[in-house]
Amino acid sequence: MSHIFVTGGAGYIGSHTVVELLNADFDVTIFDNLCNSSRVVLERIQKITGKTPDFVEGDIRDSAALAAAFARKPVDAVIHFAGLKAVGESIEQPLEYYDNNVSGSIVLCETMQAAGIRKIIFSSSATVYGESASVPYKEDMPLGRASNPYGASKAMIERMLSDLCDSDGRWSVAALRYFNPVGAHKSGLIGEDPKGVPNNLMPFISRVAVGKLPELAIFGQDYDTPDGTCLRDYLHVSDLADGHRRALPALEKPGFQVYNLGTGRGYSVIEMVQAFERVAGRPVPHRFAPRRDGDLPAVWANADKAKTELGWSADTSLETMMEDTWRWQSANPDGYPQF
Ligand code: NAD
Ligand code: WQD
Repeated sequence: MSHIFVTGGAGYIGSHTVVELLNADFDVTIFDNLCNSSRVVLERIQKITGKTPDFVEGDIRDSAALAAAFARKPVDAVIHFAGLKAVGESIEQPLEYYDNNVSGSIVLCETMQAAGIRKIIFSSSATVYGESASVPYKEDMPLGRASNPYGASKAMIERMLSDLCDSDGRWSVAALRYFNPVGAHKSGLIGEDPKGVPNNLMPFISRVAVGKLPELAIFGQDYDTPDGTCLRDYLHVSDLADGHRRALPALEKPGFQVYNLGTGRGYSVIEMVQAFERVAGRPVPHRFAPRRDGDLPAVWANADKAKTELGWSADTSLETMMEDTWRWQSANPDGYPQF
């Protein structure tokens, strides 16, 4: 396998994965409509790797644009990151989410099929386990009812991909269920750059630390956990990127496969704040606030399958996750430059 087509490759996880792939000498084409990312990412990837990925600006719902991009040079596999990911926004705009994520994935697979490309890695999420699964989550657990359209869209896409594999033995699909990616590339050149006020904990903490937001609200302090705040399985985004490279050989085998990508342990919100404060050497002003709707007390992975079958594990320490987040945020207090 040499040429990998990366939808959403200019985004947070996509850009780190493109770096990983270029460093491992893959040829890469990024296909992204830049609705949640910046063209500056391309220069930054070049700075880190010394290589320039091909870039096509386009929407995965546009079959003609995809077909034209596939026709440029033979594609061995697709890594599919493109989609919308804000849980709260998905509740307000469900049609946008189903259109972008579900319709977009259908158009992508149809266009791949027409071009004779039948290998795909899909960005799924721990959210597909639903509200009543018990931790640690394991791949063979039944999927639960998603509490929001974003989660439902991920479960629908997984189901669609699995049905596709059942219908045609030439398809190979790996659905990677991510837990909570954090951190940034060690260069500080690429990282997470959410538009507006961040929804996720880590970018919120780092924007408070850099002085762009006044304080962090910690959602809930009365959960049945050791310190009363929620537990999550935070993994370094570069480990997650490495997981995609290691999943590529699994596509040599046809069929539908699922892997959890997490560390296998949970940290609380308070532990995250304290670890960040230690590393950055500055306080992160915070207060306790009511629970956030839909939050589960504790989520972490059983990541044994990825270790056994892909030879992958997420070993980067919490301290390094924090150092790398801080290096990125302090060097880019306003995120990527806007033009
Ligand atoms: P991101 O928003 O940074 O990256 C997504 C990229 O896709 C962006 O560059 C955006 O411009 C592009 N995009 C969106 N819709 C598109 C479309 N219709 N056509 C072409 N490009 C489009 O998000 P991320 O954090 O890098 O997440 C990548 C994938 O991983 C998403 O599918 C997300 O749902 C999934 N995921 C993310 C997390 C997380 O916590 N970040 C956790 C689990 C799963
Ligand atoms: C982590 C913890 C919050 C912000 C979400 C999606 C999930 C996946 C990853 C894509 C929770 C607490 C947060 C804040 C806080 N995304 N928190 N104050 O909710 O585990 O997962 O992102 O697939 O689908 O649901 O991540 O970073 O939002 O929250 O106290 O301002 O931090 O309550 O306990 P979550 P998160």
